[in-house]
Amino acid sequence: MERVIGIDLGTTNSCVAVVEGDTPSVIPNRGGYKTTPSMVAVTEADKRLVGHIAKRQAITNAENTVYAAKRLIGRQWNSPPVEAARDTAPYRVIEGPHSDTRIDLRGKLYSLPEISAMILQEMKIIAEDYLGEPVAKAVVTVPAYFNDNQRQATRDSGTIAGVEIIRIINEPTAAALAYGFGKKIDRTVAVYDLGGGTFDISVLEISSDEVFKVISTAGDTFLGGEDFDTRIMDWLVQGFLDEHGVDLRQDRMALQRLKDAAEKAKIELSTQLEAEINLPFIISVGQNEALHLQRMLRRETMEELCFDLVQRTMEICRATIQEAGLEVSDVEDVILVGGMTRVPLVQRSVAEYFGREPCKGVHPDEVVALGAAIQATALIDDRSEMLLLDVTPHTLGIMIAGGLFEELIPQNSTVPTSRSKIFTTVRDNQTAVKILVFQGENERAEKNELLGEFVLTGLRNAPKEQVEVEVSFDINADGIVSVSAKDLETGLKQSITVTASSGLTEEEILNMANDNQEYMLDRRASEEFDAMRQEAERIMREIDRSFHKAEQTVGNSEFGREALAKARDLLDNAQQSIDQRDAAKLNEHLEALKRTQKIFKGVLARA
Ligand SMILES: Nc1ncnc2c1ncn2[C@@H]1O[C@H](COP(=O)(O)OP(=O)(O)OP(=O)(O)O)[C@@H](O)[C@H]1O
Ligand SMILES: [Mg+2]
Repeated sequence: MERVIGIDLGTTNSCVAVVEGDTPSVIPNRGGYKTTPSMVAVTEADKRLVGHIAKRQAITNAENTVYAAKRLIGRQWNSPPVEAARDTAPYRVIEGPHSDTRIDLRGKLYSLPEISAMILQEMKIIAEDYLGEPVAKAVVTVPAYFNDNQRQATRDSGTIAGVEIIRIINEPTAAALAYGFGKKIDRTVAVYDLGGGTFDISVLEISSDEVFKVISTAGDTFLGGEDFDTRIMDWLVQGFLDEHGVDLRQDRMALQRLKDAAEKAKIELSTQLEAEINLPFIISVGQNEALHLQRMLRRETMEELCFDLVQRTMEICRATIQEAGLEVSDVEDVILVGGMTRVPLVQRSVAEYFGREPCKGVHPDEVVALGAAIQATALIDDRSEMLLLDVTPHTLGIMIAGGLFEELIPQNSTVPTSRSKIFTTVRDNQTAVKILVFQGENERAEKNELLGEFVLTGLRNAPKEQVEVEVSFDINADGIVSVSAKDLETGLKQSITVTASSGLTEEEILNMANDNQEYMLDRRASEEFDAMRQEAERIMREIDRSFHKAEQTVGNSEFGREALAKARDLLDNAQQSIDQRDAAKLNEHLEALKRTQKIFKGVLARA
């Protein structure tokens, strides 16, 4: 069977899994880690770094290291999350050509889908290294609460990365899938997922015939571990300001160090009651003087600083249970997902609200990727009976008179789904109708997320005064919205122009995909070169070491001297092709080196 993988594209960490036989498992990266930091950097030498290697250099290359890009993907330039990042991120956030968001890395602007594409590609490479064969298809997860723009942008990442995303599934649903897989149980479960950037809660019914049905879902795509870190950072910055009158926010490197330290302290406080934060030489003042930061953070203090964040998740839980038409006591198991569910305050609050201890035996960092791999395998396996019924997290609608929002597909409708609406327009004064499509829960249309404008044209061909157009709104299994229209009079399909509000144009995506492919070719070539170089250098060292002995053995004959001079030349030439990174030349020299190595061995054996 064809190889497919599941990728959990996280805000902080990403994870890739595969099903082999009937067993899903997470694939470790080259360093042996099961998760890979969702970080991307460009070095001074213009080299792209992804994952641990990007994270390790984040402090010294803060301006050119991107983290938490998922918080910005599919968001408009003037949205609150982008505004927040503009002020606080150590990297430069720039306005793109469609009032979208770009990131400046060493003078080159990258769209958010390009950044995510680099991470997706890294995960694909991890899988390919492990499986020893190319992988073309993947199921990728997104937060359940992602809207259409965010889902589209994630899809675009796949296209740019050269990964065919066969399905986008929601993270909590994936978690439930991994939890219920092969268990043959009938149970109502809640998945509480608090990760680095987002919070999701989903309530599902799992049945023994392998149907996973989401009843309701809700969340906040701007609430996660990052916010806890920010609270701790703010506390550190304020304390420092009070003590020294110096604002650490002016310094990008200090900011990056503070962020690191805040996260570290937060993690320590999951198992300890106190964490020491120690940042020597955090900022320089005057000519030769530096200030140090040293503070003790108690778990209690952190809980006070972050109490309202946890409360917000609990309120969302309450609303979701209600929306599902359930009582808390109907929930038979609670699954905790995401690194942040290791925080004692979070565990306590969840246990208290649901009135039961959360389920053990589900790995909070791996379960989403495992679920994605299970779904990926089910999608390409005809024998699979598994059925996943998810819902749309947001209401889909259009703007009507007075700027009001008219609902077409309500929140928590099972997807795929579609709804049609007949629009009537007068032909005399209108040959085109413009429809604005929104997603959200506010009764004022503009308070919701604008998904796009649809312009219905060609109406003048209608024979009657009144033109009736039936517009169909679809949400597919990925949760992605599409629109089509039909002229009821003529039965003709109307042409529809979709203008993405903050996404990339097809041409841009294509160019980015091409750029990326070039990068991959370069990268492969450079990896091949490095492998060749290593081999060449090893042989060169060996020849070099035995040179003296060879001279003693054959140096007294003309033939021998000539051969030695040739070998010397070869070593010089090979070194030159390494210095010039000339792969073709090095390849030739490598062959010659191997022959020479053999001859030397022969000579020395006879000596
Ligand atoms: N032991 C721990 N104690 C407290 N927090 C932790 C611990 N381990 C990880 N975290 C936090 O969990 C967050 C990362 O969680 P996770 O890897 O689940 O997120 P993600 O999947 O990248 O994000 P998202 O699902 O929101 O896109 C980070 O904020 C990290 O600091
Ligand atoms: Mg996650």
